Amino acid sequence: MNKKVYIETYGCQMNVADSEVVVSILSKAGFVQTENIKDAGLILINTCSIRDNAEQRIWGRLNAISHLKKQKNDLKIGIIGCMAERLKEKLIETQHLVDIVVGPDAYRELPLLVSEAEAGHKAVNVLLSREETYADISPVRMDKNGVSSFVSIMRGCNNMCAYCVVPYVRGAERSRYPESVLEEAKELFEMGYREVTLLGQNVDSYNWVSNNEIVGFPELLEKVAMIDPGLRVRFSTSHPKDISDSLLTTISRYNNICKHIHLPAQSGSSRILNLMNREYTREWYMDRVNSIRTLIPGCSLSTDMITGFCTETEEDHKESLSLMEWAGFDFAYMFKYNERPGTKAARKYKDDVPETIKSERLSEMIALQNKLSIKSKKSDIGMVFDVLIEGFSKRSVEYLSGRTSQNKVVVFPADDFKKGDYIKVLIERCTAATLIGRSV
Ligand code: 5AD
Ligand code: SF4
Repeated sequence: MNKKVYIETYGCQMNVADSEVVVSILSKAGFVQTENIKDAGLILINTCSIRDNAEQRIWGRLNAISHLKKQKNDLKIGIIGCMAERLKEKLIETQHLVDIVVGPDAYRELPLLVSEAEAGHKAVNVLLSREETYADISPVRMDKNGVSSFVSIMRGCNNMCAYCVVPYVRGAERSRYPESVLEEAKELFEMGYREVTLLGQNVDSYNWVSNNEIVGFPELLEKVAMIDPGLRVRFSTSHPKDISDSLLTTISRYNNICKHIHLPAQSGSSRILNLMNREYTREWYMDRVNSIRTLIPGCSLSTDMITGFCTETEEDHKESLSLMEWAGFDFAYMFKYNERPGTKAARKYKDDVPETIKSERLSEMIALQNKLSIKSKKSDIGMVFDVLIEGFSKRSVEYLSGRTSQNKVVVFPADDFKKGDYIKVLIERCTAATLIGRSV
């Protein structure tokens, strides 16, 4: 078989981290990665199911590559990840060009499944696991900059948010052995990386229990931060119901733990939050934000918001807007509610907010967030930030680009600096997306 594998990744950062594990597993079985889809003997598409449009993109992509299969009849195509888990055998039944279907917990079986496909059988493994964390697998880094990388610390999710497909496609929550996280982060630092992002669906509920030790997320974060003061640590995603003052105190104590928290609110209406099964109220969310502001001065805050969830009224929507305004989010991802088959909301509630209203509310939300994002950037003008350089700016090689601890992108004249350096930058102006300054 042509043992060149081409992998394409859709969806969240967790999928990016998973693709790195997949390449590592396959390389042990003799595969080499190729960047050129036409050279590949095996094409893998790591998929996302979070909203229907994520899946539509993947169907479109499959269509677009179908001609390759006609050109090379020994080419094998595999669908892996969340959509593989959700649709299982149906994927093969509806798409004849798919040979392999593998869910997020079955990647160790990939070499075997590829051999089965080679032998002319369709190969499927979508078993979810209670234990699999791929702790012992050293991911093959695919990031482009060599400065920042992801480290997965847990898998799955035990929160049953009514709208969300994740618990069904990624299974129950399990935490990864802390030593393996530390080793991976140390290794990255030794390779020259200067930033790691610890990933999990709900990092606040990270919990490793062994005979003589319990490690929660604050302890894990601290251990990673102590590897070296020159290694920045980020994490995502936090859940408002679980984010504790103990975590916030840990963040405040270490200069290299980044001062940015992604804390998805989803809605500003307690009634909607209850229907969503988020297990907190508007007041609870506001209390957590107040704690962040008190314990970590200068911390930036971002959110995910869903608009048009079942039964959402104009009043509920206004509450979402007012929460956003009150919190002054630096950044937000905003989505129209999209019913996902099998979720609690799909089974129990009617998707009753008309599409036009969802769109109107989303536009209003985006307009508000644009205003807040600009305000957040303008407030940085005149201040000096520690910036970790990630590479040249997109527009010009005379400028470098990096990030502040608060996760804002900064562009400044390149001088003799290079990626991986930390420098102090005075912010002089900003655009809608970027801070612009000079080193001081
Ligand atoms: N419809 C719209 N947005 C969703 N999200 C998750 N499920 C859905 C859905 N069914 C959003 C949430 C989550 C982010 C990753 O995607 O805001 O935080
Ligand atoms: Fe990530 Fe969720 Fe999409 Fe899976 S369904 S790729 S976990 S966002």
